[in-house]
Amino acid sequence: MKAWQVVRKGPPSKALELRDVAIPEPRAGQLRVRVATTVCNLNEVDGCYGRYRTVDPPLPYTLGMEAVGVVDAVGEGAEIWLGQRVMMTGAGATGAHAEYVVGDQAMAFECPDRFDDHSAAAFYFPFHVAYVSLVERGGLKAGETVLVHGGAGGVGSAAVQLAKALGARVIATAGSPAKVEFCRSMGADIAINYSTGDWADEVAQATENRGVDVACDLVGGEVTTETMRVMAYGGRLMLTGFSGGIEAEDEAGLLPRSIIFGNISVAGVLLAYGDPNAFGLAGIHLVPRERGEQIHTHLLELHNTARIRPVVHDVTSYTELPAALERMERRETMGRSVIQWTAQSD
Ligand SMILES: NC(=O)c1ccc[n+]([C@@H]2O[C@H](COP(=O)([O-])OP(=O)(O)OC[C@H]3O[C@@H](n4cnc5c(N)ncnc54)[C@H](OP(=O)(O)O)[C@@H]3O)[C@@H](O)[C@H]2O)c1
Repeated sequence: MKAWQVVRKGPPSKALELRDVAIPEPRAGQLRVRVATTVCNLNEVDGCYGRYRTVDPPLPYTLGMEAVGVVDAVGEGAEIWLGQRVMMTGAGATGAHAEYVVGDQAMAFECPDRFDDHSAAAFYFPFHVAYVSLVERGGLKAGETVLVHGGAGGVGSAAVQLAKALGARVIATAGSPAKVEFCRSMGADIAINYSTGDWADEVAQATENRGVDVACDLVGGEVTTETMRVMAYGGRLMLTGFSGGIEAEDEAGLLPRSIIFGNISVAGVLLAYGDPNAFGLAGIHLVPRERGEQIHTHLLELHNTARIRPVVHDVTSYTELPAALERMERRETMGRSVIQWTAQSD
C-alpha cells in the first residue's frame, strides 16, 4: 500500500516520502481501516522535524494521527467493528496517512451516515480535544466566560464553537484580521487580534477586570504565563496545546506563587482514551473509554442540532500531503485541512 513515511528530519517536503509498504495487520483489540480521508495536525509538522516527544518512533515510520474509513479487518475482541465506518486514531497516533491504518478500538468511534468523509475527518479529534479540555477537565458551566488561544485553528475553532454551544461567553485570540473574523463566525463574542495590541489588556477590559473562568490554551509558552494574569477567581487554565513551540511542553514556566495567590487551577489535557490505570503510576492517565463514548454521543447530538459543525478549510489529494502540512506550518489554514485518499463517499 502507499504510505507517507518520515524518513529524515526536516520540513515536511524534505522529511516525507510516499513509499510502498506492507499493509498492517490488526492485533488483539485493534481495527484496520481502509482510509478514505485523513487530516493535517500541527503536531505532525513537529513530527517531521523530530521535535515531538509524545510521538517519536524510530525512522522510518508512517505519519498521521486520524483517519476516516471502513473497518476491513479486526483483531481478537474487536469483531463488532468489522464493516463499520469509523473516525479513528492510528495506533500510537501514527500510521494514518496511508491506504490502510491500524488503531486501537478504544480510539475508534462510530461515524454516522450524515457525515461525508471530509466533515467526519474534521469533526473527530478537534471536538473531542475541545470537550476534554473545556468540560471533562475544565468543568465549564453555562454562563461562564471562556478564553480560547489559537481560536482559528483546527482545535481552536472547535473549542470556540463548543464553548458557545454550551452556553459560555467566548473570547478568542488569533493573529490576523481574517482569523479574527473567522473566530467571530465560529461564535466568539469577542475576538482579539493579538498581533496589533496587548490581548491580555483587552481580555481584562472585556471582563471588567474580573477575568475568565476557563482558558483553553492551545499556544503555550509565554502565552500561558500571560494568561495567568487574566484568570478569574476559581478559574481553570487548561494546558491543551503548544502551537507556539512544542518544546515548551518540557520547560519550566509557571510559578507556584501565581497559582496560589490567584486562587486558580492549572490542569493538563491529554486526549487518549482507554484504561486510566493502564500505565500504573508512570505519569500517564488515559481518559476512560466510557467517558469517550459519552462525549462522542453528546458531540453528535450537538452536531445533529446544528450547534457545532466541522470546519473543512481545504481538501488536498494524498499525493500533495507535504504541501498541505507546510501551509499549516505557515499558519495559512483556518479549521481543518483534509487529505483525500479515496473517492468521496455519499
Ligand atoms: N491535548 C491534546 O490531547 C491535544 C490533541 C490534539 C491537538 N492538541 C494541540 O492543539 C494545538 C492545535 O493543533 P491544530 O492541529 O488545531 O493546529 P492548527 O490548526 O495549526 O492551529 C494552531 C493555531 O495556533 C496558532 N499559533 C500560535 N503560534 C503558532 C506557531 N508558532 N505556529 C503555528 N501556529 C501558531 C495559529 O493561529 P494564529 O496564526 O492566529 O496565531 C493556529 O491557528 C496543537 O498545539 C496541538 O498540540 C492537543
